[in-house]
Amino acid sequence: MKIVMLGAPGAGKGTQAKMIASSYGLPHVSTGDIFRANVKGGTPLGLEAKTYMDKGELVPDELTVRILLDRVAQEDCKNGYVLDGFPRTIPQAEVLDAELTKLGEKIDYAIDVEVPDENIVKRMSGRRACVNCGATYHIVHIPPKKEGICDACGSELILRDDDKEETVKNRLAIYHQQTQPLIDFYSNKGVLKEVDGTKDSAEVFEDIKKILG
Ligand code: AP5
Ligand code: MG
Repeated sequence: MKIVMLGAPGAGKGTQAKMIASSYGLPHVSTGDIFRANVKGGTPLGLEAKTYMDKGELVPDELTVRILLDRVAQEDCKNGYVLDGFPRTIPQAEVLDAELTKLGEKIDYAIDVEVPDENIVKRMSGRRACVNCGATYHIVHIPPKKEGICDACGSELILRDDDKEETVKNRLAIYHQQTQPLIDFYSNKGVLKEVDGTKDSAEVFEDIKKILG
């Protein structure tokens, strides 16, 4: 099963992708997480990606596509995966589609997690991410058991560099311009499913399970 998560920054793609991945035994592939791990590790890829990420801009397609195709070619992806944050532009979706076609495969579901822009900025300022394992929380909606500490690994929780209000607004503008057209792209392929992302995260996941069966 190959799933693409669509939705604005902060819609809850990562939250739902992790739940799908653990329930259905699929790898969770997030280009944002891959870039952040490289930023943290100070790799050349990380240094390049950071210049775009800090401004809320997209990392160039060529680089992003290369990273993603390398990742999904790994052994653990052979029975499927949940893509979170990729594709984000029509050219990215076209390359993925062409690569899958070569293998006689396709995306089975594109799940669009819908949340209006007004809710997004509030959510982002409350998000906290683990410096070590990348688990995400929300100080109000999905709090960790102990403030500032990751439930999963006990490391420190921080506000992401690109979650500042101005950067979030830029990410939203770029989302509407470059990523939203993917809704039509996957709708035309007959695989688009929409869920209401303003519900509680457990309810959103129930709706997704009804879709995936
Ligand atoms: P990426 O990491 O993909 O960021 P994003 O799309 O902006 O999405 P987020 O991770 O911010 O949000 P999310 O939808 O995963 O929400 P989450 O579940 O955390 O990309 C970062 C950057 O990397 C990009 O800006 C770009 O520079 C670069 N990049 C990555 N991929 C790229 C690509 N393909 N091409 C080019 N550049 C790329 O939830 C948000 C918050 O809300 C959390 O606090 C969560 O706990 C809370 N929450 C979740 N669900 C609910 C709910 N139902 N109710 C209440 N709160 C909730
Ligand atoms: Mg995410």
